[in-house]
Amino acid sequence: MVGLGPKPPPSRKGTGSFVDVPKDLLKEIKRLEKLFTVDTAKLKQITDHFVNELEKGLSKEGGTIPMNPTWVMSFPTGHETGTFLALDMGGTNLRVCQITLTEQKSEFDIIQSKYRMPEELKTGVAEDLWEYIAECLLQFIQTHHGDVSKLDKIPLGFTFSYPATQNYIDEGILQRWTKGFDIDGVEGRNVVPMFEKALQERGVPIKLTALINDTTGTLIASAYTDTKMKIGCIFGTGCNAAYMEDCGSIPKLEHLNLPPDTPMAINCEWGAFDNEHKVLLRTPYDELIDNDSPRPGQQAFEKMIAGLYLGEIFRLIMVDLHDNRDVNIFAGQDIGKLRRPYTLDSSFLSAIEDDPFENLSETRELFQNQLGIDPNSSELELIRRAAELIGTRAARLSACGVAAISKKKGYKECHVGADGSVFNKYPHFKKRGAAALREILDWPAKADPDDDDPIEILAAEDGSGVGAALIAALTLERVKKGNMHGILHPKNFQ
Ligand code: GLC
Repeated sequence: MVGLGPKPPPSRKGTGSFVDVPKDLLKEIKRLEKLFTVDTAKLKQITDHFVNELEKGLSKEGGTIPMNPTWVMSFPTGHETGTFLALDMGGTNLRVCQITLTEQKSEFDIIQSKYRMPEELKTGVAEDLWEYIAECLLQFIQTHHGDVSKLDKIPLGFTFSYPATQNYIDEGILQRWTKGFDIDGVEGRNVVPMFEKALQERGVPIKLTALINDTTGTLIASAYTDTKMKIGCIFGTGCNAAYMEDCGSIPKLEHLNLPPDTPMAINCEWGAFDNEHKVLLRTPYDELIDNDSPRPGQQAFEKMIAGLYLGEIFRLIMVDLHDNRDVNIFAGQDIGKLRRPYTLDSSFLSAIEDDPFENLSETRELFQNQLGIDPNSSELELIRRAAELIGTRAARLSACGVAAISKKKGYKECHVGADGSVFNKYPHFKKRGAAALREILDWPAKADPDDDDPIEILAAEDGSGVGAALIAALTLERVKKGNMHGILHPKNFQ
């Protein structure tokens, strides 16, 4: 066809010039910039408060950040071996894996199946959840091992990525649901017996050796291949981190008289940072998200950073600018689809930020196709800027958490393993986070742009698969050596 050549080459870099944007829209852009920008001084203030809150969470009195001891008591050496099942109940999908840690140092084989987590299960009744999980496990074992009645029990690491109190590694008392889950009758209870009951009823040959958090899994899996790894982070549907503490620095475990230099991985649950709103500057949109969530007042930090919320913050801005502000964007158009809560996920924002064209033609198509809205060119500039502001704030705030753990532990140089859809897929998230870390920690300018930063946030190994298997292996190993701390059912470890 004549005249329909390939699209022009990608050219657009960052913010446009706004020269043609009308004054009232420009005013709204400035207002959003003011609301969402976190400058260096603020980043530093947040980080300092964060360090104190991490300490508080470890104290006997406790604090807002749960700082949950996990009974993961060593880093892997790379020489762990064995075959394990891993179940990952993360938020969006359910994943079952079989991992073989091979004789070769730091190597593993993995087979896995993913199951979609039906939306209605997330707010349904507990029995349905456990039944669904047990069915998925049964199917997986039948496919890969055949007749389950002839099998010995296979050890399983269960990645249950919600805040849980663990007096033992094979126990997890759900503190509260996060990430939009709201299933009655689970909060305040140990999830392991509920899970095991569903397995027993179906004759699924599994023994649970460890209940783990995805961040702890990420930390351990990453340390399996890189000994500089000191922190594991998830920037995905939720946002959280884990690191290795010494028992002597955990006053709330003092009564157990553990040797002070014994390591203990801590699942921070830092999504709860600043639930009191002392340092985080929340916008009216953050407040709306919180008020309309199943757990208002909880996960203040997470609600500004995690993938579950980024698209929703954007949607709320768009609706506000249509309904309530003088600019009245998308005037005369039907915004019915845009009115639906949580209709845009973070991949929608990613696509906006990824639009390479000067005229934002891909963004325009996105709005047309997904929302039935046709934005004009000035509105497109505002849309792009709003996405940048939300994505940048998320990356910069997340750096405060990493900086806080590093400061608390005195880490001047280390690697941080990070996983999750926002970290892996959101444009510029890594670069923006690294820039913020540099500002917070006052690193001098790099001599060579290719030089590494003293603290590097790197893509992690698979935490809820390999990490879970490693934690199961490490736990079996330490039980064998007689370290029975934090073990509730020793018979599962024989
Ligand atoms: C939420 C959960 C936490 C998990 C994180 C990332 O913050 O509470 O346990 O690690 O999401 O999945």
